[in-house]
Amino acid sequence: MTVERRNQGRFEFFDLKPKAADMREEVLAGLGASPKTLSPKYFYDETGSELFERITRLPEYYLTRTEMALFDAYLEQIAAALGDGVCLVEYGAGATLKIRKLLERLRPAAYVPVDISGDHLEAQSRELHADFPWLDVFPTCADFTAPFPLPEPVTGLPIVGFFPGSSIGNFDPAGAERFLRNVHQTLGPRGRLLVGIDRRKDPAVIEAAYNDAQGVTAAFNLNALEHINARLGADFDVGGFRHEARYDAELGCLQMFLRSTRAQTVHIGGVAIDFAADERIHTENSFKYHPEEFEALAGRGGFGVDTWWTDEAARFALFLLRGR
Ligand code: AVI
Repeated sequence: MTVERRNQGRFEFFDLKPKAADMREEVLAGLGASPKTLSPKYFYDETGSELFERITRLPEYYLTRTEMALFDAYLEQIAAALGDGVCLVEYGAGATLKIRKLLERLRPAAYVPVDISGDHLEAQSRELHADFPWLDVFPTCADFTAPFPLPEPVTGLPIVGFFPGSSIGNFDPAGAERFLRNVHQTLGPRGRLLVGIDRRKDPAVIEAAYNDAQGVTAAFNLNALEHINARLGADFDVGGFRHEARYDAELGCLQMFLRSTRAQTVHIGGVAIDFAADERIHTENSFKYHPEEFEALAGRGGFGVDTWWTDEAARFALFLLRGR
């Protein structure tokens, strides 16, 4: 009789107990500023996460599809560049097709998904561990915008960070540089980072991706107001605001706004916030980079470029960075 021996991967949840931001304080500070702003993190309650999922499948939203195609086309090269026995540290709780593809092909020594929302992280990680039972999975609840210690069992392994989806574009360049410095500190001096970048391109292509015909991005943007109503007992009349997305080609930035369609007053707790007719709330930046611009940014963040992959239409790029 032959007995098939299969290694059972370990599962351990590491809770670094990140300090939760005070939503009321943050929202009031943003809406009290001039111009008014709201953090894009407020898009993402349950409805917002579902809307984002729908965005990734829209015909106009080329980002997810193009990055996925890069994984399909270059998986062998990516796996060869990363090498054997690595620990993959994913910035964000990943249950996506991208990380699954990478895990399947690479069979890394360990996988560390990192997220600030512990419940969501644990649920996603357990699901993933059920599908990859041979893998050591060490979900880590932490605020990844600051440096944090990696789980003890992965010390000594070659570390590769993973930050797909052009999420780094949601920081402004100074914020992205600070983020990269923090990643450098977390992953260690020889740590590497596989990161997805949306490239600068024809403004019409970018604007269409954020002004889709079905209005899903509009609903996603407006959902920030629904979320604030539900969580803070605010009284935003969501019908009194309009989605706007414009690409500033000089900045290389797609900016999203919510424009008040009339003069109105909104209440959050006891605080009244006045909106003039046509006044905007700035809700998101999504920076796009020329490859050489991103290389310079990575350099300022403490990384050099090992190698990078892009698609034929030059829409998206995957960079493998190395700490230096
Ligand atoms: C998550 N992030 C990379 C998306 C982006 O394209 O900046 C969020 C998004 N906003 C509107 N559509 C998608």
